[in-house]
Amino acid sequence: MIKKWGIVMSLKEAALSVREKAYAPYSNFKVGAALRSTSGEIFSGCNVENVAYPEGTCAEAGAIAAMVAAGEQKLAEVYVVASSPQPVPPCGGCRQKLAEFGNRDVKVTLATVEGDEFETTIGQLLPGAFDASHMEDS
Ligand code: THU
Repeated sequence: MIKKWGIVMSLKEAALSVREKAYAPYSNFKVGAALRSTSGEIFSGCNVENVAYPEGTCAEAGAIAAMVAAGEQKLAEVYVVASSPQPVPPCGGCRQKLAEFGNRDVKVTLATVEGDEFETTIGQLLPGAFDASHMEDS
């Protein structure tokens, strides 16, 4: 449960709030991600950059790590927000990370700080995903 001043936050509010905490001194592009697990709990994460650029982590990765650390592993809904002209789609690595913990039909809302929203799903973001079934013996 994510609360601000004792009030339970929505997925959108949680994403907007955590985005403000992003550490993005190199790109100046702050991203916030919030997700609801199948238990109903909300977890959030922001991007955390590093002077060695490839060591930075995305907002989605932070939110997923928070969920897993809390003992949960199933996504029910995802919300990602950034300050950009159009809702920014998750990078390729984050699409694969989302697919690891969510079914194809899990709703993903991509949003701008100004309030524009684009609704998609994990399956639409990563068609033809590589999954564990591809490693089964034939
Ligand atoms: N970024 C995210 O956190 N999530 C995305 O879906 C797209 C990109 C971050 C990574 C980096 O810190 C900054 O945005 C610019 O790429």
